[in-house]
Amino acid sequence: MDKSKLRVLIPAEQIHARIQELGRQITADYPEERPIYLLCILKGAVLFHADLARAIDRSVRMDFIGISSYGKGKTSSGEVKLTKDLDTSIESADVLIVEDIVDSGVTLTYLMHVLDQRRPRSIRIAALLDKPERRLRPVQVAYVGFQIPDEFVVGYGLDYAEEYRNLRDVCVLEE
Ligand code: IMP
Ligand code: MG
Repeated sequence: MDKSKLRVLIPAEQIHARIQELGRQITADYPEERPIYLLCILKGAVLFHADLARAIDRSVRMDFIGISSYGKGKTSSGEVKLTKDLDTSIESADVLIVEDIVDSGVTLTYLMHVLDQRRPRSIRIAALLDKPERRLRPVQVAYVGFQIPDEFVVGYGLDYAEEYRNLRDVCVLEE
């Protein structure tokens, strides 16, 4: 791991504070009677999913879905495929997709299409990071942690060629 290429963009304390806010907002938005199905998009969203779940004061269910749209590089292959499906049915459920970052929007457009066919009661997206400048497909993101400029970031779950996921801060990976 080459730490000399990293520049801290969002420090861990700020990530933590923002997730507590999102958790309060989500708690207020959803009814008490039904669980929220927190669907983690593997692998980038695992840390956000784990922290967000603990910030929500509602009954939750956790499930995981694997999707790949990126090769080993920094740009999308444009091809999306399901690499691991959910273990549970989401029919009539309040689904909250938990994603690390919305970039082109291709991944989430595909996933929303797939999950919609399973007839959930509601479906929303929570994304820790959003790069609005890069959007190719419109996606409605109900809960956004931070909007960031068009720079490649790693840490707090996000990787470059599977490296850097365990950094506590979100960092820009410089050339
Ligand atoms: P999209 O389909 O272009 O919106 O891509 C979303 C996926 O690309 C995310 O779930 C990430 O896995 C990956 N991605 C996009 N931007 C970055 C970045 O800056 N760092 C690391 N992964 C990224
Ligand atoms: Mg991802």
